[in-house]
Amino acid sequence: MTTVLQAPTSAMDIWSDEILADPHDAFTELREQGAAVYLESSDVWAITRYDEIRSALADWETFTSTRVAFNPQMNEVLIGTSLASDPPLHTQMRAALTENLTPRALRGLKGTIEEKADRIVAELVTRDAFDGVHDLARELPLQIVLDLIGVQGDVREKILDWGASAFNLLGPMNERSQQSFPLAGELFEWTHGMDGNQLAEGSIGRAVFDAGARGDIPPELCGHIIHQYLAAGMDTTIGAIANAVRAFGENPDQFTLVKADPSLIPAAFNETLRHQALLHAVGRGTTRDVTIDGVTIPGGSQVAILLYAGNRDPRHYDDPDTFRVERNPIDHLSFGYGVHGCAGQGLARLEAYAAIGAFCRHVESFSVGTAVPKLNNSSRALASLPVFDVVVA
Ligand code: HEM
Repeated sequence: MTTVLQAPTSAMDIWSDEILADPHDAFTELREQGAAVYLESSDVWAITRYDEIRSALADWETFTSTRVAFNPQMNEVLIGTSLASDPPLHTQMRAALTENLTPRALRGLKGTIEEKADRIVAELVTRDAFDGVHDLARELPLQIVLDLIGVQGDVREKILDWGASAFNLLGPMNERSQQSFPLAGELFEWTHGMDGNQLAEGSIGRAVFDAGARGDIPPELCGHIIHQYLAAGMDTTIGAIANAVRAFGENPDQFTLVKADPSLIPAAFNETLRHQALLHAVGRGTTRDVTIDGVTIPGGSQVAILLYAGNRDPRHYDDPDTFRVERNPIDHLSFGYGVHGCAGQGLARLEAYAAIGAFCRHVESFSVGTAVPKLNNSSRALASLPVFDVVVA
């Protein structure tokens, strides 16, 4: 018989500026309170420990993605997207979404991405100081993902702000979300109002619309797919590349290890993702009563899955706050898990490996200043990262 315990509760607002800027202490406290903690101020259940997070993400029948956002308006807007649906609908949409992001589809891009990364870093290191976010981490996704999707002209300038506002709107209806409506609406109108001709010929964005025109996928899905590529693929990848530079700057011994043995680059990227999860809270809704670690979450509840807390869970990772590239945590939670596991991780890895590889080749040593977080309800990117005292390799 399962013993049902009184739920641990907390008055914490996990979307406050302080916790968005640095969730470490707050999330450690919640994780130590329990695997499932009721957050009174937002009427949300936080899932905080590694094993319970994996189990929840794997169990889409109990934890539905139809409440992936923490506000009903956005869940309404997202109806029909892969992100906000469950199987069997999700399975059909996911197939259309991933067709152009498979390792096979991306194979031809590796050389181009590596060349671009090399050029960007080689130019940057001629300066003594630069910004790790603006000058380095942003450049690859801006040059690669936008070309890949076929975004052309003035719209390119808007994508980062559009993507950040779409991420804000996945959070609760706080001030940040409310202010994001106009920009997120522009992205939605652009992706859903187009017929594909705005996207460059030969791009995967155009291929999505061609598939819609042939009847291979429902035409009304095309806008959704472009929306998801753009909203999900920019800030996350930028954040991950900037975090790698930051982690190397703060742990020069780890940088030396990767420089000496570039075969450690994938492991270093896994550790970067584990150490700094890029999504603040992943939303789900319970479809039935579910008991986690002796605590029952009622059916119909809103759930926040705290990937950062799970990645730092000492029950799963030894010495979890330490950045160690040789740990190679291939089972980290930062790309999610289960049917919604990140559809773009192959592309994110190509970009990050190329950026880290170029950085290790061109830089002998460097220092980093204080990283400034970019406050967002969902994505945990950086606003800036001062890089200085750069010594060229
Ligand atoms: C380091 C970079 C990235 C991180 C950390 C990341 C993280 C995530 C996470 C945690 C999820 C699961 C969300 C959930 O379970 O509700 C997800 C889903 C998704 N990601 Fe990524 N992502 C990254 C890059 C990308 C890129 C480059 C693209 C596309 C160009 C992309 C496209 C998507 C899509 C479309 C989904 C939804 C998949 C589905 O619903 O089946 N992501 N991502």
